[in-house]
Amino acid sequence: MKIVVAKNYEELSLQAANKVADIVKSKQDVVLGLPTGSTPLGMYKDLIDMNKEGKLSFKDVTTFNLDEYESLPKEDENSYYRFMWDNFFSHIDIDRQRTNIPNGMASNVEEECKDYERRIEDVGGIDLMVLGIGNNGHIGFNEPSSYFAGATHRVKLHENTIEANSRFFGSLDKVPKHAVTMGIKSIMQCRSVMILASGKGKADAIKKALEGPITPELPASVLQLHRDLTVIVDEEAASLLEKR
Ligand code: PGA
Repeated sequence: MKIVVAKNYEELSLQAANKVADIVKSKQDVVLGLPTGSTPLGMYKDLIDMNKEGKLSFKDVTTFNLDEYESLPKEDENSYYRFMWDNFFSHIDIDRQRTNIPNGMASNVEEECKDYERRIEDVGGIDLMVLGIGNNGHIGFNEPSSYFAGATHRVKLHENTIEANSRFFGSLDKVPKHAVTMGIKSIMQCRSVMILASGKGKADAIKKALEGPITPELPASVLQLHRDLTVIVDEEAASLLEKR
């Protein structure tokens, strides 16, 4: 595990963008796993700048998003589809056909989950998975649980997550109660994983994830077992870490 403590959010974002840029430049047809949320926004901005300046092309890049709400139409302002297109894909030279986001509107969610796994397998797996972390230690929408869920699956969101995400929806009852997420096995199979966390609110989750027991009660803790994990945190998110 490599832990990078950045001075602040700007430096964290740039470090993360540089790591993504390095792998995109080093491998033709690279496959990225991508998150939504507030944390990766700075990284996406930096990658857009690199693309606009002609330093980086996404033409041959394939992407798989981590998760999507269930029953929100793509065009809903809170769908992760919209998030990705508004904040990243529309601004870079990516091929639409190579972008993958779970379809939360699928009539057969179980089949959609299986198909998502098949698509990942068909392109040879994910080279670099970028993750955020929830205050409760979730990765993607893998919520604290009594077991580690394997492949892409349908999930019931925790109250804690619904509350955290209600800031985007205006009220608690507008937040979808279910979602589709890549599972812990899907994430652990990625060749490299990079997890990002910024701010005091994430310090406890980061400490437990990296220095606590490996338990499905804190899903991110499983990453301690990943063979190629990079953690990029700012000073505040790192503040409770003993080993740094
Ligand atoms: P955030 O979300 O980046 O908006 O804090 C992270 C997450 O919940 O996984």
